[in-house]
Amino acid sequence: MSRLVFPTDFTWGAATSSYQIEGAHDVDGRGPSIWDTFCRTPGKVVRGENGDVACDHYRRFSDDVALMAQLGLGAYRFSIAWPRIFPTGLGKEPNAAGLDFYDRVVDALLETGITPWATLYHWDLPQPLQDAGGWPGRDIVAPWLRYVEAVARRLGDRVQHFITHNEPWVVCHLGHAIGEHAPGHRSFPQALAASHHVLLTHGLAVPVIRDAVPGARVGITLNLYPAVPASPSDADADAARWFDGYFNRWYLDPLAGRGYPSDMVAAYRDAGHLPDGPLPWVRDGDLAAIAAPTDFLGVNFYSRAILRSDRIPEAENLPRTVPEPPPERCTDMGWEVWAPALTDLLVRLRDDYGDQPLVITENGCAYATGPDDTGRIRDERRIAYFQQHLVACHAAIEQGVPLVGYFAWSLLDNFEWAWGYAKRFGLIWVDFETQERVPKDSARWYADAIRCGGPPR
Ligand code: FCB
Repeated sequence: MSRLVFPTDFTWGAATSSYQIEGAHDVDGRGPSIWDTFCRTPGKVVRGENGDVACDHYRRFSDDVALMAQLGLGAYRFSIAWPRIFPTGLGKEPNAAGLDFYDRVVDALLETGITPWATLYHWDLPQPLQDAGGWPGRDIVAPWLRYVEAVARRLGDRVQHFITHNEPWVVCHLGHAIGEHAPGHRSFPQALAASHHVLLTHGLAVPVIRDAVPGARVGITLNLYPAVPASPSDADADAARWFDGYFNRWYLDPLAGRGYPSDMVAAYRDAGHLPDGPLPWVRDGDLAAIAAPTDFLGVNFYSRAILRSDRIPEAENLPRTVPEPPPERCTDMGWEVWAPALTDLLVRLRDDYGDQPLVITENGCAYATGPDDTGRIRDERRIAYFQQHLVACHAAIEQGVPLVGYFAWSLLDNFEWAWGYAKRFGLIWVDFETQERVPKDSARWYADAIRCGGPPR
């Protein structure tokens, strides 16, 4: 069988996050996070579900590491729950029991030869820090740096790979403008203020991690969403440019040392989201701090966005050349499966933002496919998704893009935020009644791709 050949030092991994899998929400001193609060607010999460138990990974982590070993993973990306380390977010001394847990996880990974990649913030902000203003306020900086330093000092003798933030756009816009994620606010100006403090805390964390961890490899993970105009009209091109600015460039540009994109600043002023004059939350030195050199950029990729202008009447627009995706091309999330956009994105990152190493820190799909009569989970659509996206990665590498790793989302079916447990992204099935784990066909397929250094063509 003919196979794609990936570089021999390519990192093959799978990813999870703390609130989505750990459970044990009130164990060993963990404090409440904004997701505990959000889940308890009626109407926020489908069927009123929450992460109290999730995959019970807190208790079952050694079994889960054994499953990772069966997959042959080279690396595992997980996140640290801030409220396990600083239960109120405040205070000077970290919670020893919380640090001990991640110590055990890291040791189990290393014993199995799996490289740990730790994400510092995957959305579970300690609730008292939210009450004190959360990401829209600058007071978040000091407790954040105390937390980052405590984790880096404790784990840094064994963990070298650190991701500061996961998906600033989601934290800022889904959390603060759209309100679908915790803390569930609806204010565009607040989302923009939050975006600055998320980027700033990323930049300020970089030297703290480097000081604590000799040889640290530090990066940030963005969820990037290529914007494709639905037709060649100027109106659709403008819509795509706006969306790209809103979703992608607003984060990429300041990280690259270019400050916030001026077209977006102007657009936000026109829309009344920003005052005239200097950006209200930017202080001297902030932009330089945000642009701290990093070792890689993490990219979470799921789909592309097709943009149709709403500024002109449909009848005045050119006919679509990119049709709306048919439902059969979409996952259970309603997200279109369109892997070529991943190649284009990776090439664009290299062309527009330079030759920094890139890592796919998440890529995957929700399909509910469960056990058949024999207990086997034949999730062929997930296999096809991974196959197509690895082809897309390989095509980018062949064009000279420095893509150095790929993490499948996700190791386990888990708590998919506002969608609860029904959206299953796992390579491994989880029966949430019994906590039984069953590797899906896609898990065997991925293990085979890892073992052979690439999937079938
Ligand atoms: C990303 C998140 C991850 C998961 C996937 C499906 O936005 O980082 O936690 O929810 O989407």
